Amino acid sequence: MATLRLGDTAPDFTADSSMGTINLYDHLGDSWGILFSHPADFTPVCTTELGTAAKFKSEFDKRNVKMLALSVDGAASHKEWIKDIDEVQDTTVNFPIIADEDKKVADLYDMIHPRADNNLTVRSVFIIAPDKTVKLILTYPASTGRNFYELLRVIDSLQLTAYHKVATPANWKNGEDVVVSPAISTEDAKTMFKKGVTEVKPYLRMTPDPTS
Ligand code: BEZ
Repeated sequence: MATLRLGDTAPDFTADSSMGTINLYDHLGDSWGILFSHPADFTPVCTTELGTAAKFKSEFDKRNVKMLALSVDGAASHKEWIKDIDEVQDTTVNFPIIADEDKKVADLYDMIHPRADNNLTVRSVFIIAPDKTVKLILTYPASTGRNFYELLRVIDSLQLTAYHKVATPANWKNGEDVVVSPAISTEDAKTMFKKGVTEVKPYLRMTPDPTS
C-alpha cells in the first residue's frame, strides 16, 4: 500500500471491533471521522489515551466526528482491556476499538513503521471528512501520548476552513481571529467578511471568526 497523503480517499475496510463488526464507510455515514491507532492492548500510555478519548467523546460528538480506535490485538482482549481502562480512568470507553490482529487495517493505513517497531503500530491519527478524503495525518511514537485538546483544535480548524475561505494562524483556538485565504483579494475580502478585514500586510489579512 502506498503511503496515504492529504486529499487521498480513506481506504474502506470491514473489521471486528470491541463493539462487533464495523465497516468504516457505514460507520462514518455523512459524519467526519477520527481513526487513531494504539501500539498494543494493556499498555500504559494507550490506557491513558483511551480513557481521555472517552472523556472527550461528547466534544467529538458536538463536532459531528465519529471516533474509531485501533489496536493490533483481538476483540476479546480489547474487551478485557476496556474493563481496566474504565476502572483506572474512571470512565466508560464509549466508541469502538478495531481488532486488527491480522494488521490488515494497519497495513492499509501504513500504521506500522518497521524502523520504529516491526509488529506494533505507531500512534497514527487520520481525520476523515464526510466526502471520505483524508484531511489530517499525525504520527507520534509509542512513547508519546497524544494531546486530545490539540485534536479538537485541529478539527475546529479543518471544519472552519472547509466551509469558509479562511485559514487559521499559529496557536489559533476556536473563536479567535482568522487569516483571509491568500486566494482572495483584500477588496473581495471586505465584501465577503462583514465583520471587517484588517490588512497587516498585503499578504496577511485578518478577520474575526466568521462563525462566532
Ligand atoms: C504504551 O502505550 O504505554 C506503550 C506502548 C508501546 C511502547 C511503549 C509504550
